[in-house]
Amino acid sequence: MKNRKVILAMVGLPARGKTYIAKNLSRYLKWIGFKTRIFNLGDYRRKLSGTCSNHTFFSIDNEHAVAIREKCCSEAMIDVCKWLGGDGEVAIFDATNTTRQRRAFLNSTLAEKMGYSLFFIESICDEQTIVESTVREIKSKNPDYRGKNKEEAYTDFMKRIDHYQQRYETLNEKQESYVRYLKTFNAGEKVVFYKPNNLIENKIINYLRSSHIRSRTIYLTRTGESELNFTRELGRNTRLSARGREYAQVLSKFINESDISDLKVLTSSATRSIQAAALIQAPKQQLKALNKMNWCEFDEATYVETKFPFPQDLTTKTGYRYQHDFTNGETYDDIIKRLEAVILQIEHEGNILVISHQKVLQCILAYFLDYSRNEIPNIQVPQNTLFKLTLSGYDYNLEHIPFDIPTIDTHEVEG
Ligand code: SIN
Repeated sequence: MKNRKVILAMVGLPARGKTYIAKNLSRYLKWIGFKTRIFNLGDYRRKLSGTCSNHTFFSIDNEHAVAIREKCCSEAMIDVCKWLGGDGEVAIFDATNTTRQRRAFLNSTLAEKMGYSLFFIESICDEQTIVESTVREIKSKNPDYRGKNKEEAYTDFMKRIDHYQQRYETLNEKQESYVRYLKTFNAGEKVVFYKPNNLIENKIINYLRSSHIRSRTIYLTRTGESELNFTRELGRNTRLSARGREYAQVLSKFINESDISDLKVLTSSATRSIQAAALIQAPKQQLKALNKMNWCEFDEATYVETKFPFPQDLTTKTGYRYQHDFTNGETYDDIIKRLEAVILQIEHEGNILVISHQKVLQCILAYFLDYSRNEIPNIQVPQNTLFKLTLSGYDYNLEHIPFDIPTIDTHEVEG
């Protein structure tokens, strides 16, 4: 189905967050089920000609370098077509694509000739402080500057931007009649779009309208041990056990004493989840979408009582769909579907704590840590542990904060 195959082509000067956006989009699209790959032109250039010695490589007068850069572009485009010609559904072409000439070439080759849907994503930033901090924090770690000191890297990268600036032409539907696009200004301050025409393009518009780059921390935790964990029952609404209540107390003390600014707490609508959040001093919101995996007719059974070979199936780990193919209950796919809106909300908020259940948190962690769907059942989400996610460069860093309270190990059992 060629028309479902989409190329998202980034546009923008260096240090405008294109790679950050590309990586976020890729994580999101893979998580919601689209086979996605990023093609970063800088990586092609480094493969073909090594790391550039300095900014003069990007000068429009450097004919030798211009020829190399065009060759890199053609090679990346060939790989994009190979990917989409096979299993791939979305290709993210992470390059500057700052000239009309380059975009017309992409359009004639990838859209007109190959028939793929070509959607541009332009990142515009005129806030000099954002640009400067991006160059300092991210670009000084760029492989092009390995072995150079930070100040040298900063100065050279700013000159690289000047070379691009000389030829930069923003997307304009009047001068480029074929273009369809999304433009984001100053890291999500304003988002405009023009003629999205398929599901993927509409989904990424919603996604990018929710995202921001303000620094914040995402905390996740399970509810703490429940009364039903003792009886090995699978589902049902239940209260926290005495040890679960103890966890609620130490968790609240930790969070309250951490004095996290403008913290918001999201819980499932289960009693134990609401109990776990009760002592936390922050606004709370209950979301059914955070409820445990629905085991349907087995919700009231214990895993020993069930008629099917449950424990074996639960530990087979042959793939994320193994769960519940034999019941009317939910699969991980179903959980991801109901979590889509929650992820957009988390992306939109600042500091946030999510109190939910094992399989739901496995799915949320898979999103932030870029795990494939097959890996989801193996993600460990131990009880009585607070998970802390912070952005480091382009990726999330996960820290475990365990609290020493005994509990029943319910990995692979509780929804
Ligand atoms: C690069 O070579 O680092 C980027 C190439 C480009 O997209 O202009």
